Amino acid sequence: MKLLVALSLVVATCFGSTVRQQRRFPDDFIFGAATSSYQIEGAWNEDGKGENIYDYETHNYPEGIADGSNGDIAADSYHNYKRDVEMLRELGVDAYRFSISWARILPTGFADEVNPAGIAYYNNLIDEMLKYNIAPLVTIYHWDLPKTLQDLGGFLNPEFVDWFEDYARVVFENFGDRVKKFITFNEPREICIVTLMDTGSDVKDKLNSKAVTTYLCAKHLLVAHAKAYKLYDQEFRAKQGGECGITISVNWFGAATESPEDIVAAELRRQGEWGLFAHPIFSAEGGFPKEFGEALIEKNASLVLADFTHEEKAFIRGTADFFGVNHYTASLVYGNKKQTESFLPSIMDELEYNYMEPDDNWPAAASSWLTLAPDSIFKTLSHLRTLYNDPVFYITENGWSTKNGLDLFDDDRVRYYRASMESLLNSLDAGIKLKGYMAWSLMDNFEWSAGYTERFGLYHVDFSDPARTRTPKKSAFVYKHIVKHRYVDY
Ligand code: NOJ
Repeated sequence: MKLLVALSLVVATCFGSTVRQQRRFPDDFIFGAATSSYQIEGAWNEDGKGENIYDYETHNYPEGIADGSNGDIAADSYHNYKRDVEMLRELGVDAYRFSISWARILPTGFADEVNPAGIAYYNNLIDEMLKYNIAPLVTIYHWDLPKTLQDLGGFLNPEFVDWFEDYARVVFENFGDRVKKFITFNEPREICIVTLMDTGSDVKDKLNSKAVTTYLCAKHLLVAHAKAYKLYDQEFRAKQGGECGITISVNWFGAATESPEDIVAAELRRQGEWGLFAHPIFSAEGGFPKEFGEALIEKNASLVLADFTHEEKAFIRGTADFFGVNHYTASLVYGNKKQTESFLPSIMDELEYNYMEPDDNWPAAASSWLTLAPDSIFKTLSHLRTLYNDPVFYITENGWSTKNGLDLFDDDRVRYYRASMESLLNSLDAGIKLKGYMAWSLMDNFEWSAGYTERFGLYHVDFSDPARTRTPKKSAFVYKHIVKHRYVDY
């Protein structure tokens, strides 16, 4: 026995560094992969599905999409869902994050007309996953608003909150017996800035300040989120026993230098990029972040920004069982340089002297906004944890893009995922309540305005092949290995 102890001490000393490299993920850490309805499903007008804003935009303004393409067929997951589940099994993941197409289950957007074929599609998908113990993580809204609702003003119409609550009820009622994790909205920032702007409603033209529309959209979106959360909490949780949260895109924005201007600029940037959406839910005081609103007004005194009433503030505060973080990258923020052209268009532009760019040394992906920044998951989660009193986190998206083409030997993506894994482990070591990680994406898909020119998949999809054949890339094998062994192998 003594000999054994001595031997293990020798081994631990000699191979100490190896042992340290093999830090493990806890057994209950949830590994998964993610997609969204418009980006993969196709079948845009099949079996009673209604038109959504991306159907409309891509059909009417193909020039807005890099390759003039659309999601009419995409990866055709509507017909290939069994293969999708097979891929999840091949990867050995614990969970799959996918979204429900609002117009597929409610063709007019309103809950008085439910499409049984749409419900059946998601039932089949969920049942197929559960056969193999793969847990569904359902995003209720991932950007594909029914066109009918957009015509009524979309997120800028105060009635949006009721449309969304009614839709969420249909989702909970039909799928909540088997789905134990719901995400109300995916990336409010992008909804209120990118999609809202891209899919022009008349209201947009009347409100010509980005700040005014963003605040109004944010207000309605957050009240809608809180209503759906409370609906789940009060009417479904007791019998269904699940959780409900929201996913916000939180990239890391650090001051470029220690100068006071850069430090202030980085804080404003964080508030404007994601604080607008996170603060009302997760901060102790609730409401929109103060300094950012003040900075906008200082720049333009005539701005009238939407705000919450006292009751609304209280209504929204604390309405999430977990904080879903979509995290991809980081930027350095400068307070003394003028913003020229944003990587990600944003109301930050209205502040003018708030410039961001990645460090030159960080490797760049195919998407202009994406670089591999050091330990940025850990930096982001540490910051959020301090700011928002230690919430439970899931990384609901994280991934790397390559250019269109056959990228089966995707070493860049492998390097990115390995770096992410280290950053996850750093977060776990620091005691951050991080419960899971979803790779973006399970498969190549329609990357919004980049069409099919940028690929994020662990699986390659051949979009020229009617069968939309899927083939695992090297990153799929590496991810599978990590998921299985729960450590990062070198
Ligand atoms: C975030 C979005 O949720 C997803 O739809 C998109 O494809 C990825 N980022 C990559 O840009």
